[in-house]
Amino acid sequence: MNKKLGVKILGTGSYFPDKVLTNTDLEQIVETSDEWISTRTGIKERRIAADGEFTSDLAYKASLEAIKSANIKPEEIDLVLVATITPDMFFPSTACFLQKKLGLNSVPAFDLSAACSGFVYGIATAKAFIESGLYKTVLLIGAEELSKITDWTDRNTCVLFGDGAGAMILSASQQDDNVLSTFLGADGSYADLLLMPGGGSVNPSTVETVNGKLHSIKMQGKEVFKTAIPKMAFAAQKALEFSGKNLDDIKLFIPHQANMRIIEAVAKKMGIPMEKVFVNIYKTGNISSATTITALDEAIKTGKLNKGDLVELIAFGGGFTWGATVLRV
Ligand SMILES: CC(C)(COP(=O)(O)OP(=O)(O)OC[C@H]1O[C@@H](n2cnc3c(N)ncnc32)[C@H](O)[C@@H]1OP(=O)(O)O)[C@@H](O)C(=O)NCCC(=O)NCCS
Repeated sequence: MNKKLGVKILGTGSYFPDKVLTNTDLEQIVETSDEWISTRTGIKERRIAADGEFTSDLAYKASLEAIKSANIKPEEIDLVLVATITPDMFFPSTACFLQKKLGLNSVPAFDLSAACSGFVYGIATAKAFIESGLYKTVLLIGAEELSKITDWTDRNTCVLFGDGAGAMILSASQQDDNVLSTFLGADGSYADLLLMPGGGSVNPSTVETVNGKLHSIKMQGKEVFKTAIPKMAFAAQKALEFSGKNLDDIKLFIPHQANMRIIEAVAKKMGIPMEKVFVNIYKTGNISSATTITALDEAIKTGKLNKGDLVELIAFGGGFTWGATVLRV
């Protein structure tokens, strides 16, 4: 009898645009201060894509790194999945634009929309495709240009977000099983708390939707903050339970990087010492679906994670959506 197919993580990569926007720069744009942003969020700076540099361009550069680190030929990829809420266009999918840039003609490609939980949702999706035997080698991306849907006159939101992309190659394996568990959740009754209301079938684009700034992020920060903490802790505990591991087995926890105070509160609630929690929010801001994968890539590159270590990614985002996954790197 054939052994159940496992999922091997072959490689990761990331890419950030060159332009750095600091808190001090933001002081020139809205009424804010480095002190307010730093103490309330933990963010010091974020990256901003150039004009003419699209989400699929960031995804492309992150993909090239992941393909190199996986030591595979691009032609081995048989599914392209892009988690994003800031696609190049409403359609075709950013995955299709990326597929063309990579020269992967005819390979299936689609986008996945789960806001800041997008990459964790993507891992569960890639795992299901691989375990079913439908596809063998998946290129999974989290890529965002939140700067393009930011209202730069709204100090409540414009200080929080940034741009970037991360990539992972996952492949079928008879020997390894690197995705130990996934847990996903969602509750659409919270949709109004974090959304971009314009441009879809509810508010098709008109002069009024543009003037009313409906094509940018609207958020009730305090409510998001309060719900994120218990949902992230719950997801993390569930994924841990499903993996059959305990807190001590995990070398590093990588929570979604939305607010330093949320990260600390989740760690406290779970009883995890901050030394085991990866933080890079100070230099990235919140990059939605790209946060957990770019953080994971950085943790691997900087030696915070070594081959064989267990890591847990924990996500939360608009929808609301949440999720967690235990991985062996
Ligand atoms: C947005 C967030 C940082 C605001 O922090 P907060 O402690 O809740 O701050 P408040 O909303 O209570 O605002 C406090 C004051 O600061 C002001 N303020 C808001 N943004 C400001 C800014 N950038 N600079 C200076 N002052 C600001 C507010 O206007 C308010 O002033 P007031 O008391 O005179 O009305 C916080 O709620 C948060 O991070 N929420 C979660 C957001 C998130 O993670 N979203 C993505 C999830 S995936």
